Amino acid sequence: MLRQLLRKKSIETLLAEMAGEERLHRVLGPISLTALGVGAIIGAGIFVTTGRAAADDAGPAILVSYTVAALGCAFAALCYAEFSAMAPVAGSAYTYAYATLGELFAWIIGWDLMLEYAMSCATVASAWSGYWNEFLQSLHIPRVAGWLSNDPFSYSSALEPDGPLQLSMNLPAVLIMLLITAVLVRGIRESATTNAALVIVKLAVVLFVVAIGWSYINRDNWTSIPIAERHVPADPASKWGMLGLLGLNEWLVPIDEKVRSPFAPYGLSGIMLGASIVFFAYIGFDSISTHAEEAKQPKRDVPFAILTSLALCTVLYIAVSAVITGMVPYPTIDAKAPIAVAFADKAAHENSGALHVATGIIAAGGLAGMTSVLLVTFLSQVRVFMAMARDGLLPPIFGHVHPKFRTPHLATMLTGAIICVICAFTPIKKLEEMVNIGTLMAFVVVCASVLILRVQRPSVERPFRCPMIYAVAPLGILVNLVLMLFLPWDTWLRLAVWLAVGLAIYFAYSRFHSKLSRETLNELKAQGLSPTDAPLKRQ
Ligand code: ALA
Repeated sequence: MLRQLLRKKSIETLLAEMAGEERLHRVLGPISLTALGVGAIIGAGIFVTTGRAAADDAGPAILVSYTVAALGCAFAALCYAEFSAMAPVAGSAYTYAYATLGELFAWIIGWDLMLEYAMSCATVASAWSGYWNEFLQSLHIPRVAGWLSNDPFSYSSALEPDGPLQLSMNLPAVLIMLLITAVLVRGIRESATTNAALVIVKLAVVLFVVAIGWSYINRDNWTSIPIAERHVPADPASKWGMLGLLGLNEWLVPIDEKVRSPFAPYGLSGIMLGASIVFFAYIGFDSISTHAEEAKQPKRDVPFAILTSLALCTVLYIAVSAVITGMVPYPTIDAKAPIAVAFADKAAHENSGALHVATGIIAAGGLAGMTSVLLVTFLSQVRVFMAMARDGLLPPIFGHVHPKFRTPHLATMLTGAIICVICAFTPIKKLEEMVNIGTLMAFVVVCASVLILRVQRPSVERPFRCPMIYAVAPLGILVNLVLMLFLPWDTWLRLAVWLAVGLAIYFAYSRFHSKLSRETLNELKAQGLSPTDAPLKRQ
């Protein structure tokens, strides 16, 4: 049985599959792929999470948090680039794990990627609804009522902390998800065009925020807000996440105190917790690799798009977080729509019509940004489902391609319906932590997979070779693992439960339907051998 669980798909098998039936259209060039990356990256993270993480976790040092998170992503991005150029098929980290670590690990990563893609869609759709209300307000249109624009948990605790659960749902989030589902069922060409338009709008708005906001930066907000009691939690271990539970924080405490200043009021632990939270803002560059199968020249363009989109977003994020923490004293940054509210407050304070218009533009840009994230992320989820269904690990319905639209329409509609339910009724913050831990785990596996394959298959053609792989891959594993360790222990517990459910499905269904396993059994039968004679890998 262990042999079956560790059975691998060879790179040659992956490449041979690319020539098979039911493949997707190759329509994406380098610009479209980079736009897909930027489309998946800039969204709720910069427009929403930055504010909350600055106020609660890192203070103005959120700039440093963004830099740390970018470092972990850059190492992983280089590894993704090597793998996606070598095996440009749909499926991303799932496919890479199948080729290097074996079927069981591939399943675990495929299951884990649902956190990155489907859960992330639910998180972004919830955040979308906050900016929708700001947008309506900027047009002097009444906001959507609280009970129709919040999940029941957030709504009830806003009404009365610890009070009874009230009936409510996040309707704008559901409506935007329905719209995205409809666009994606229609087709990738239309989706790429829609995405490109949305990316242009959001890049313009982010540059607008930086250009206008820069002149409102007050340096005192970075250096002169006194450190208050609230920066030191009653239970010091709690701010160290899983590290605290494992007792690994003790030797870091002296550094924590040294780092603490008005710029970094929560110390080193705050900066690192901030990094593991704002990591959410970078998620998406890897989704380019899930579109490798639709790229015209995947071996050249996929690595280019991954690295370009990540570099561009890092620069923009650092600039925007400097603006937001410079414009608003970090303890008072708004949690739901920080950038739009910062401009709205300035408009009210200065009684400026121009700033009021700017607020409306920013809210609209935030909506466009999050819409394109939804589009690309959702697209990535169905691509991973498709890859898993082709391998027999998921039921065939997930791999069926529409005869006319050439899109995996059934998987798209089914996934869309599930995401609608999740975003209607689930609180955003915990979802976000789950997305981060799942994605960080996928990054760790990809870095490990690329390293393993360099050792096991040194001669496979690599159109893009990650430079200094023996340093980059281990550093990618280390930085992303450390970021995972700074997340709260209850997030780890949820990840463990999620993985346990995934394993139950694998052992109940996928193991028996795996195409690779059935092919091997048939080959063995034809040779008159028993299953225990199967080789561990078919390479
Ligand atoms: N990076 C994506 C966002 O910030 C998930 O919305």
